[in-house]
Amino acid sequence: MNLHLKKGSPLQQKTACLVLGVFEGKFKTPLLKELDQALGGALGRAVRDGEFTGKVRETVLFHPGKALPAERVLLAGLGKEKSAGLEYLRQVAGTVSGALQSRRIHSFACNFLSLPVRGGGLAERAQAIAEGLLLGTYRFDRFRTENGKELPPPLKDGVLLVDKQAEVTAARRGLDEARAICRGVCLARDLVNEPGNVKSPEYLAQTARTLADEGSFALRVLERDALEKEGFGGLLGVAQGSVREPRLIVMEYSGGSSEAKPIVLVGKGVVFDAGGISLKPAEKMDEMKMDMAGAAAVLGTFQAVAALKLPINLVGIVPAVENMPSGSAMRPGDILTSLSGRTIEVLNTDAEGRLILADALTWAKRYEPRLVIDLATLTGACVIALGHQATAVLGNHDGLIRQLIRAGENSGERLWQLPLWDEYAAQLKSDVADLKNTGGRPAGTITAAAFLQKFAEDTSWAHLDIAGTAWEEKGRPYVPKGGTGVGVRLLVHYLKTVAGA
Ligand code: BES
Ligand code: MN
Ligand code: ZN
Repeated sequence: MNLHLKKGSPLQQKTACLVLGVFEGKFKTPLLKELDQALGGALGRAVRDGEFTGKVRETVLFHPGKALPAERVLLAGLGKEKSAGLEYLRQVAGTVSGALQSRRIHSFACNFLSLPVRGGGLAERAQAIAEGLLLGTYRFDRFRTENGKELPPPLKDGVLLVDKQAEVTAARRGLDEARAICRGVCLARDLVNEPGNVKSPEYLAQTARTLADEGSFALRVLERDALEKEGFGGLLGVAQGSVREPRLIVMEYSGGSSEAKPIVLVGKGVVFDAGGISLKPAEKMDEMKMDMAGAAAVLGTFQAVAALKLPINLVGIVPAVENMPSGSAMRPGDILTSLSGRTIEVLNTDAEGRLILADALTWAKRYEPRLVIDLATLTGACVIALGHQATAVLGNHDGLIRQLIRAGENSGERLWQLPLWDEYAAQLKSDVADLKNTGGRPAGTITAAAFLQKFAEDTSWAHLDIAGTAWEEKGRPYVPKGGTGVGVRLLVHYLKTVAGA
């Protein structure tokens, strides 16, 4: 969808659909009074009959005929005025763009930028609105050859109206930013939605190659020979059961000064997690194609960061592998020697994420990073603890965690911290090796993080468990069913603060 900014008054717009935001119960504004008059009192009647109250996500459509230059008028509920913030704008914009698209309306003009909301200047508000609009119309229709023909055509043009010409300039920055970020989010969603028979580890590497060319950053892909030579015991152990060859994908973006130490992002890239010999149950196993959502978030973030030319140095590390059962698969009881030299007793082959992340975290140390953030669909226990509302954050650096939580609040991708006290590490003691790969049922998300902490060593590090937030089952205002692309908005927001941009 193309988005534009324009100075102009709403009721004078010639558009396929004029969209106006309305706070709950606030129908006496000059604009709405004028609209009601033009509609011959139709708005007043809809309100009187309870058809429209202004609650969040509510919409009502009018056809004004000759009374207005607009062909249609859509009123969108914004909820209570005092509680409206940037996330409200995203949700309202997402609902509206979805509603317009499903009504087969091709273009619209909205007044969302003149709404009084808490937090954020014009650029931030424009960004939030554009994010909602762009993400709300996302769909994954690549494989729909028959029923895809019934899908409404994509929404084409959107106009954000402003009162003064000066505001166009201020808001433009927000729009540009949203475009870059949403491209990254939609790439991440596509990668997660792609079925397992399409996305091999090499497929992820190929995607990274395309991004590196487009964004002019460096890329190195380690294949089996190199992985064996270096000693990636964790990654190779998991890869053993699959006919697909593993990859270590390393992206290097240099936007900062040459002395500045990089931030390293690590993303779990299990392209399909059958569980290995500790096989998962059949029910919902299909969803385990999403076990590379951490990798998708890192790739999407690189696309956005390169497009925005952020003045930072960033390294992305994606261990990509498939976890399958077979005659050559690793067994429960096997002992692997990780890249760090630490030995790991594999008690459950389904706890594979930490095995590949351990090696990736060790590889990260080569860069003497300023800090490391990993993203992984790591534990089912995280879904039990936090559901689908928040990503779990744990780590060894409270300042970093606080900044990430703040970025989560501002970007609309919320985080919640879990403790990582030393005592939890006791659950990982092995009788025969340095560590075992499961800590039993209690505090599954925490013991998984405690495992990773051993490999992060003294590097400032935060771990994001996105098991509950990477996949949407029902569909929310700007998050359709399937891959959510979680992590991209959060990380870009965080990296922008770090860059001081
Ligand atoms: N990829 C899964 C975790 C997962 C579960 C992600 C549900 C998204 C939704 C991970 O590899 C896994 O299987 N973890 C095990 C660990 C256990 C064996 C210690 C789990 O959570 O059951
Ligand atoms: Mn698993
Ligand atoms: Zn997994």
